[in-house]
Amino acid sequence: MMKVLMVVLLLLLLGGSLFVVEAKYMVYNTSQGIVKDKINVHLVAHTHDDVGWLKTVDQYYVGSNNSIQGACVQNVLDSLIPALLADKNRKFIYVEQAFFQRWWRDQSETMQHVVKQLVSSGQLEFINGGMCMHDEAVTHYIDMIDQTTLGHRFIKKDFGVTPRVGWQIDPFGHSAVQAYLLGAEIGFDSLFFGRIDYQDRAKRKNEKSLEVVWQASKSFGSSAQIFAGAFPENYEPPPGDFYFEVNDPSPVVQDDINLFDYNVQERVDAFVAAAVSQANITRTNHIMWTMGTDFKYQYAHSWFRQMDKLIHYVNMDGRVNALYSTPSIYTDAKHATNEHWPLKTGDFFPYADRANGYWTGYFASRPALKRYVRMMSGYYLAARQLEFYNGRSNTGPNTDSLADSLAIAQHHDAVTGTEKQHVANDYAKRLSIGYTEAEKLVASSLACLVESASHTGCQRSTTKFQQCPLLNISYCPASEVDLSQGRNLIVVVYNALGWARDDVIQFPVFNENVIVHDSEKREIVSQIIPIADAFVGLRNSHVNAYLGRSPVEKPKYWLAFTVSVPPFGFSTYSISSAKRAGAHSSKSSVYTFRSEKSAVEVGQGNLKLTFSADKIKHANYVNSRSSVKESVEQTFSFYAGYNGTGNDKDPQNSGAYIFRPNGTFPINPESQVPLTVMRGPVLDEVHQQVSQWIYQITRLYKGREHVEVEFIVGPIPIEDGIGKEVATQITTTMETNKTFYTDSNGRDFIKRIRDYRTDWDLEVNQPFAGNYYPV
Ligand SMILES: *[C@@H]1O[C@H](CO)[C@@H](O)[C@H](O)[C@H]1NC(C)=O
Ligand SMILES: *[C@@H]1O[C@H](CO)[C@@H](O)[C@H](O)[C@H]1NC(C)=O
Ligand SMILES: *[C@@H]1O[C@H](CO)[C@@H](O)[C@H](O)[C@H]1NC(C)=O
Ligand SMILES: *[C@@H]1O[C@H](CO)[C@@H](O)[C@H](O)[C@H]1NC(C)=O
Ligand SMILES: *[C@@H]1O[C@H](CO)[C@@H](O)[C@H](O)[C@H]1NC(C)=O
Ligand SMILES: *[C@@H]1O[C@H](CO)[C@@H](O)[C@H](O)[C@H]1NC(C)=O
Ligand SMILES: *[C@@H]1O[C@H](CO)[C@@H](O)[C@H](O)[C@H]1NC(C)=O
Repeated sequence: MMKVLMVVLLLLLLGGSLFVVEAKYMVYNTSQGIVKDKINVHLVAHTHDDVGWLKTVDQYYVGSNNSIQGACVQNVLDSLIPALLADKNRKFIYVEQAFFQRWWRDQSETMQHVVKQLVSSGQLEFINGGMCMHDEAVTHYIDMIDQTTLGHRFIKKDFGVTPRVGWQIDPFGHSAVQAYLLGAEIGFDSLFFGRIDYQDRAKRKNEKSLEVVWQASKSFGSSAQIFAGAFPENYEPPPGDFYFEVNDPSPVVQDDINLFDYNVQERVDAFVAAAVSQANITRTNHIMWTMGTDFKYQYAHSWFRQMDKLIHYVNMDGRVNALYSTPSIYTDAKHATNEHWPLKTGDFFPYADRANGYWTGYFASRPALKRYVRMMSGYYLAARQLEFYNGRSNTGPNTDSLADSLAIAQHHDAVTGTEKQHVANDYAKRLSIGYTEAEKLVASSLACLVESASHTGCQRSTTKFQQCPLLNISYCPASEVDLSQGRNLIVVVYNALGWARDDVIQFPVFNENVIVHDSEKREIVSQIIPIADAFVGLRNSHVNAYLGRSPVEKPKYWLAFTVSVPPFGFSTYSISSAKRAGAHSSKSSVYTFRSEKSAVEVGQGNLKLTFSADKIKHANYVNSRSSVKESVEQTFSFYAGYNGTGNDKDPQNSGAYIFRPNGTFPINPESQVPLTVMRGPVLDEVHQQVSQWIYQITRLYKGREHVEVEFIVGPIPIEDGIGKEVATQITTTMETNKTFYTDSNGRDFIKRIRDYRTDWDLEVNQPFAGNYYPV
């Protein structure tokens, strides 16, 4: 009895182990193309790697500070290559070149050879191809072009290919310039993105118009149109549990009948249901699944293993057809159907993801970083022109570091201001390093140009140029020199634009009696303006904080004069002291208005502004050339930030991304604050201390027909625990019928109408936040 039993047991064991051996050699058939009469599910394997956000770009790359966010891009790229080599049908797209380049530099020649083959076979495709996935609201179009060029140039050089597809899946709204300039004109065949207004999205799903032909430029029309697709939800896998990172909770495909929880049919059914539902809102029988999300594929095999199985079993099932694909393959498939697509014009701003979620807060987040990026962008333009004139140096100072830091700063969590503080500091630090390098180049190149202009040649260049990046706080050591000992200050002004300019420059000086001569030794008109206390304060705190000393001698004046500079050229001016002011140099006359009844007029040409001391918020604007007369009122106020503790069902608070005001409060000018007017031959200025923490200067330049307004805001008081968005409002009597115009990345103008959208009937639920646009 006993013996027989034992034999049976042994046989059972043998049978079991034989089956396991068979399962080990299970081969999944992933060699699937497009099938004409079925729904084709294009599985696009991707990772979305922010070039800085909660961690810095380097921390994300190496995977440090994982307590902040478990993210390591090096793991993604390291594990990707063997995963692609394991099955030639697998495909992957890679986007952010800032990360890819970091990884590429570390690879052996053998590995580089392998990767080049993966790229040329199409298994690995570069999409978008810029250094980062730039923001589209607060970026300047030149910066967008530059950062894209930097990435594309590297891809072209090392791989001989050019990306075909725009992939702006995460930026918070989408601009016209992105579609026609960074899309169509750059040569992309299509552009995909994830974030459009929730009301717009709902309507587009209904009308199957998430995919469109986008004609974003009025002037270019159909010559710069692009096939564009907004995703049905976001840039993640579809609803139905298809996330396959090592510790994601989605059920994996369990197809080993010897193990518990065999679930092939369930997973196939879930896949088919998700596909049918998406096909229901999509034109043609091609749908795209974005298989990945932020920092996924850190162990790439875990995703590919599941997708292999899904493709295999779904295609055996036969209801829908699943295949490894890329956005390029998807675009070609769409194109081959000859479908007609709805037309989209204009842009996708502002973006709200729900009733109280207007992503218009970031238009104004971290304004100092935004300004720094813009300043550096202008400087880079000039620096690389000078670099070109004098020949590029790979060993000496060059513009590479500034170019790289500017590129990274265009990321949609960089210049937007939506990153953490230590990450914002990292961007600023990179810009500063880049600037320091470029500054040396600019100094030596200018010296060279200036000296060869005076025929001494540039080899023995002895001129040392100093530059003044901190004029915003009236700090410029180079110009703050005592000229009374017969010394001259030589100022070289460079114009990086392609047309001649006459513009007023100003910088701090010690002496009040100075004369300005141009390069032909003609004295030119100049003006001395006292430096306002507001600037002195900024300057002092800078000197204290960064130079560790208290300011001893401070310059008391700005020197202002009009410079004439040829296109892509420079002009030279000489500043010297005089016993008394020269024939053409003037001190500003300074008036302080406190209680006068009379009005004060500023402006010395066609345009005049009249202020009256009793109503300091008011000015009358008169342009005698165009006969425009307008009464202008300017007020300051702040929006209190909704802080998420209300009884509202939606606790969304106001923050770096989202603007959700909870009331508007006027900032009243302090009653007895005088208006100070400074007038002279170059410009007139009106100074107003609007409140303890708002100072404003209104400038009218001689012969110009615009008003320049500069304001210093801050530190914003927060002791009351209320977040504040400071706003200024200019009210006129113009009948605008709710219509206004804003630019797109510094180009064109787009018509906007308050509480109105061109593409759908707007349900207004955030009357303030929903009417802000980037400028
Ligand atoms: C895999 O699937 C494709 C497409 O259905 C088919 O042509 C091919 O014969 C299959 N290969 C194997 C090994 O079954
Ligand atoms: C990130 O890691 C570095 C090095 O470990 C550490 O010095 C730094 O404080 C960390 N940053 C944050 C924000 O935790
Ligand atoms: C397809 O869409 C229609 C209308 O939008 C909806 O009624 C229907 O339930 C949808 N079908 C599927 C399978 O999602
Ligand atoms: C002045 O400019 C520097 C560099 O661009 C910037 O860091 C600083 O915040 C600015 N200061 C003020 C008060 O705007
Ligand atoms: C929200 O604001 C209220 C009143 O303005 C204040 O009492 C409360 O502390 C704030 N809560 C938070 C979380 O800031
Ligand atoms: C909104 O503002 C009011 C005061 O004006 C305050 O009492 C309330 O707490 C604020 N609510 C939120 C959620 O911030
Ligand atoms: C104001 O604009 C609306 C549409 O936004 C238009 O129907 C109306 O005619 C305009 N009114 C005037 C006076 O221009």
